[in-house]
Amino acid sequence: MITMLLNVFDGKRPIRFVVGLGKALRILLLHTVMYRQIRELVLAQQAADPAFIGRDVEKYLDKLFDKAEFIVHANKGQCQGFVAYYCNDYATLIAYITLILVTPACRNSGLGSWLVDCVIQQARKRGFTACQLEVHSDNENALSFYEKHGFRHIRDTGEKTHLMQLEF
Ligand SMILES: CC(C)(COP(=O)(O)OP(=O)(O)OC[C@H]1O[C@@H](n2cnc3c(N)ncnc32)[C@H](O)[C@@H]1OP(=O)(O)O)[C@@H](O)C(=O)NCCC(=O)NCCS
Repeated sequence: MITMLLNVFDGKRPIRFVVGLGKALRILLLHTVMYRQIRELVLAQQAADPAFIGRDVEKYLDKLFDKAEFIVHANKGQCQGFVAYYCNDYATLIAYITLILVTPACRNSGLGSWLVDCVIQQARKRGFTACQLEVHSDNENALSFYEKHGFRHIRDTGEKTHLMQLEF
């Protein structure tokens, strides 16, 4: 499921639009375009940083498009950043951010923070009480980004991967 966020992020006061709910064909087209762009962004990041996904990227993306929820920020039809997350574990009430990516040109302008805030809002609305994610210890940008948002280390999940959690 993709919630489209179009031309709305000005770095200060994001406004959210869910486009044309009645227009299934248009939405399908937008989804297809966004999925293609998201795939390209992920592959480009993976090429720049081989540790980024750390597993079969195509297989991982297929699973994401099949099962995860996405919030996308697009400007003039171009995806500038997105977050993929799960918010469906009603047994634990813990949401899980599986992937967040902002295009290099748009980094450090608050877009990543906005995407994380959107997930937290969604999770809260559904009665969830926490959000988790996994981060690679070599990814210092991401570590400090998540710490800035209040995520704290819970446990190591691998030699270089850490589980972090934010309680609401
Ligand atoms: C992590 C990421 C999503 C942050 O998005 P962003 O739009 O740049 O983030 P924001 O502008 O909202 O926040 C910036 C914060 O991130 C951190 N950060 C971003 N770039 C950084 C850098 N080059 N060095 C150190 N910290 C950095 C800082 O905490 C910064 O806080 P500040 O504004 O107080 O300095 C983005 O850098 C990205 O897409 N990285 C590549 C993909 C990735 O590593 N994803 C996370 C793992 S799945």
